[in-house]
Amino acid sequence: MNVTQSLTITKPDDWHLHLRDGAMLAGVLPHSSRHFHRAIIMPNLVPPVVTTADARAYRERILAAKPRADFFNPLMVLYLTENTDPADVVAGYEDGHVTAVKLYPAGATTNSASGVTHVEKVYPVLEAMAKAGMVLCVHGEVTDPAIDIFDREAVFIETVLEPIRRRIPELRIVLEHVTTRQGVDYVRAAEDNLAATITTHHLVINRNAILAGGIRPHYYCLPVAKREEHRLALRRAAASGDRRFFLGTDSAPHSDPTKETACGCAGIFTAPNTMSCLAHVFEEDGALDKLEAFASLNGPAFYRLPVNAERITLVKRSEPVVFPGKIETGAGTVTVFDPMFPLYWDVQ
Ligand code: NCD
Ligand code: ZN
Repeated sequence: MNVTQSLTITKPDDWHLHLRDGAMLAGVLPHSSRHFHRAIIMPNLVPPVVTTADARAYRERILAAKPRADFFNPLMVLYLTENTDPADVVAGYEDGHVTAVKLYPAGATTNSASGVTHVEKVYPVLEAMAKAGMVLCVHGEVTDPAIDIFDREAVFIETVLEPIRRRIPELRIVLEHVTTRQGVDYVRAAEDNLAATITTHHLVINRNAILAGGIRPHYYCLPVAKREEHRLALRRAAASGDRRFFLGTDSAPHSDPTKETACGCAGIFTAPNTMSCLAHVFEEDGALDKLEAFASLNGPAFYRLPVNAERITLVKRSEPVVFPGKIETGAGTVTVFDPMFPLYWDVQ
């Protein structure tokens, strides 16, 4: 295949990734370790990763499942509960075993039953984290059944995030997988201790992908994709180069039978073609020169980690690159995100 254009950038990191465990971990990990140097590993296993000891054990399982030839540094995250011990969190951070803590409102998403119901109960942990300079990752959606699912992010910002930031202004927070114009505007207006990750799929789809012309479970994730105006706001934020926005794919594999059912799981698996989709999107927006900031530079700057020394080259082919529509894992078949346009960019 002919190459029409190429782009060499610092090797990217994924600042929000679900790898699961066991046979699913073994099946999906190579798709991330191929393109990403590091990843922030989400702790929503069953049972969740709640202590530093849990995180260390899970990290060992990830490294054992990794293809030998790949370098991959899993950055571990603790799942915040109302019983989390501030001393364990800070010790884990200071020893380098833990990178961040994740706040899931109880019931917000897949495996979030042990999440936080009363934020006041976790203030001692958040205060200890602020003092240590740790990052809090938040799943920014309220779970009140009275709030419309499309409004849950905006209401979370107003009723949960803003009060936390007022109470503990020094706490460094990442609003994970931001999906709305309100979310983008809120982060832009804040000081530089607030950042947001943006997923690949939220740059590509709006809610029509899930609902128009038939219900398509492989486009269903949380936070759910919103209206087109919100997708466009995410595109502008990602392509702006603003240091507060960076890539967190939220690649979240579920086996097909658990998605294609009357009550399907939330999650989109984008690991295999994420870099191709991103290059497409940034090129479309005339912002290929900002892809490196988004995927490789802004994340480490916020997490206060070094930028990767390795580089990758993306090449644009004259013929579409074919990705498998599904991958087989020991835990079942997983459907790969279909952006619904041909992909020409490939990682060399
Ligand atoms: C994630 C999962 O499957 O673990 N699902 C999703 O739709 N993003 C959970 C999450 O990050 O909310
Ligand atoms: Zn996630």
